[in-house]
Amino acid sequence: MFFKKKTIFRKVFFITLTVSLLPLIVSWVYLLRVAAQHGFDPTSAVVAGFYAATGLAILLALGGSYYLSRRISRPITHFIKTATLIARGNFSERVSIESNDEIGRLAQIFNYMTTELRRLRDMDLNRLINEKIKNESILKNLADGVIGVDVSDKIMMLNSVMEGWFGIRERQCLEKPLESCVSNQTLLQFLRKVRDENKPGLWISESEIVIKSTKTWRNIFLQARAAKVVNEKNEMIGIVAILRDVTREKEIDRMKTELVSMVAHELRSPLTSISGFSELLLDPTVNREQSEEYAAIILKESNRLSELINKFLDISKIEAGKIQVKKVPMQITDVLDKVLDVNLHQAEKKGIVVSVKLAQDIPLVYGDKDMMEQVILNLFNNAVKYSPENTAIEIRLKERENDVLFEIEDNGYGISEKALPRIFEKFYRVTDNDKVREVTGTGLGLSLVKEIVELHNGVINVKSKVGEGSTFFFSIPKYNGKFHDIAFDDDLESEMASHHF
Ligand SMILES: Nc1ncnc2c1ncn2[C@@H]1O[C@H](COP(=O)(O)OP(=O)(O)OP(=O)(O)O)[C@@H](O)[C@H]1O
Ligand SMILES: [Mg+2]
Repeated sequence: MFFKKKTIFRKVFFITLTVSLLPLIVSWVYLLRVAAQHGFDPTSAVVAGFYAATGLAILLALGGSYYLSRRISRPITHFIKTATLIARGNFSERVSIESNDEIGRLAQIFNYMTTELRRLRDMDLNRLINEKIKNESILKNLADGVIGVDVSDKIMMLNSVMEGWFGIRERQCLEKPLESCVSNQTLLQFLRKVRDENKPGLWISESEIVIKSTKTWRNIFLQARAAKVVNEKNEMIGIVAILRDVTREKEIDRMKTELVSMVAHELRSPLTSISGFSELLLDPTVNREQSEEYAAIILKESNRLSELINKFLDISKIEAGKIQVKKVPMQITDVLDKVLDVNLHQAEKKGIVVSVKLAQDIPLVYGDKDMMEQVILNLFNNAVKYSPENTAIEIRLKERENDVLFEIEDNGYGISEKALPRIFEKFYRVTDNDKVREVTGTGLGLSLVKEIVELHNGVINVKSKVGEGSTFFFSIPKYNGKFHDIAFDDDLESEMASHHF
């Protein structure tokens, strides 16, 4: 049975058998030749003894060869069995050979290898794969854009933020040359610079890459950082770049600069007047009439200053969520009357005719009275400020399904198409119209109006044409018969009391 296969056992058995029987065969051949030459008695006792010795020798050779081949082949068979089990994933198996020869050493090495395999298995391949998937999804869902290219500038990966910014798809760009997917020259040049100049592993930043948003068509400012990626032999295998959207930071920077220049301009001029006229007041030669005139100027200028500061603080508080709206059911026409009572004379001074068109029975709205007054006042003031003399302003109130629509239309200077999208930004003032530029203002009014309207879940918008006039309109939800007001705590109440709304 064991002779059927080409086994080590068979090989060793036949080799040892041949080797052990060879001297016997030689001595038989020799004996037969001597006998042929000299003749001998085959029945003699010597010949019988020789036959017996030969038989014994053959038996011993057979037994010895069998034993020897078993000894050599058994550990190898054991090895094969154990290796088969290990190959099937049973890493707890051990080769139990403890001899000091080469096979024993081989067994030791084999056992060591199995232990290592078990350790690797224990690290859990699944966990590693999950980890990889997790890392990939983190990368893909980062708020920053990430792109990786290989040494030949082919795209290895890009995440969804990059896809959105550059209007490309990873699956269409993978393995494709970078330039066939990304057309932004600044980014391409930046990555070339990193490839040519940068040391491996060192991140370099490019301050600004500007792209157009595919949704809003507005500029998005990106700050890119990139580094060469190297393998363990320190050979470059690609470049990875991270792009961060810094549009908001840039906007804040711009606003800060505008705030500083606004402060310089808007605060300095009333302050100069106040200090100048105060000095004049202190002059003992000033008569009563003059001192009244100076005091009136000081009062007007300080009012202007406090208006500016209040508006700015109001916006900041709303934005910081530090103010709560004290909503009550209210008649918006009452607020309009109040605003017109106090401010109509401004329009009259410029010969502007103000007309109010109300739909029948305007329903109650749900809002904060003081805040609504601010909204209407600012829109009315603008309509007067930015209209030439002898024009007209029309105010309309309409009831809609869920809200009331307030419209104020003037025949003033109008707003250019370029300026229109920015009109509600803080500190934004139109500069492309000389007439408008001459009018003083902080650029905060509309920004405050928008904040308030949105706090009331309303919407504000404007239609305008240069030279023809503007219509500002906002909506405010109708009062639906239920109170949703938030209870005011003492702290907040005292804050509201000190607040100028
Ligand atoms: N009715 C309007 N007609 C033409 N331009 C307008 C009108 N209302 C606003 N604007 C333009 O929008 C800009 C921003 O208005 P906003 O009310 O925010 O600021 P302001 O009037 O300059 O300052 P403030 O309201 O604080 O005194 C104005 O500077 C003006 O150029
Ligand atoms: Mg204004």
